[in-house]
Amino acid sequence: MSDQNSPAIEAIDVVRTFTIGTREIKVLKGVTLRVEKGEKLFLVGPSGAGKTSLLYTLAGLESPNEGEVRVDGKSLYQMKKNKQASLRNRLLGYVFQNFFLLPELTAVENVMLPSLISGKLARERAEALLERVGLSHRRSHLPTELSGGEQQRVAIARAMINSPTILFADEPTGNLDSKTGRAVMELFTEMVDEKGGTLLVVTHDSELAKTGNRQVLLTDGKIAA
Ligand SMILES: Nc1ncnc2c1ncn2[C@@H]1O[C@H](COP(=O)(O)OP(=O)(O)O)[C@@H](O)[C@H]1O
Ligand SMILES: [Mg+2]
Repeated sequence: MSDQNSPAIEAIDVVRTFTIGTREIKVLKGVTLRVEKGEKLFLVGPSGAGKTSLLYTLAGLESPNEGEVRVDGKSLYQMKKNKQASLRNRLLGYVFQNFFLLPELTAVENVMLPSLISGKLARERAEALLERVGLSHRRSHLPTELSGGEQQRVAIARAMINSPTILFADEPTGNLDSKTGRAVMELFTEMVDEKGGTLLVVTHDSELAKTGNRQVLLTDGKIAA
């Protein structure tokens, strides 16, 4: 069930701490953020500011120590684990900085991996997505046989396999040259726009960040602007 008025994602007073030995480090110091449906938001800020931690917390991958995250109005971390997992699979897509492709699987198999459908249909959909990202001719290649930009395009195709309504990306162009990075980002926004989806990207590239609707600056675990 989707509530038209609910934001796509909402963080309320999110606190995240890490304990190293006996020391406690507060990485997110009470973050409140509302991301509307259809928004393309870039999270920027210096290294160590807590951007990755915030993205992972918003994306349902790391629970906060305090506070709440709501996806489409539903409190994510208060759901049972299996409901959380099912919501993630159905609604959320992820692209990580280091691509995280499985080395022993071909491009098309990597794209199919998170699919909620199986068999021939999943393969057809994965092949269509690879065509979309311009990699049909690489479908049977292993990740080691692909360039960085190609691997990232496989990761984007994989993130889209379940038609997510919210796409999360952590420095998706961080390992690419600037031209390839721009091409990857364009593909990303195009695919999200077509479905009226929501995009949340962490980047320290200020040029890239201008391509969205909104920038949020995180410094020292707090939202600054
Ligand atoms: N698993 C972890 N254990 C301990 N400290 C962590 C962990 N993950 C991140 N940190 C610390 O939290 C801070 C913020 O990290 P991060 O969210 O990765 O920042 P950013 O993505 O903005 O560079 C850093 O000081 C980092 O060392
Ligand atoms: Mg980071």
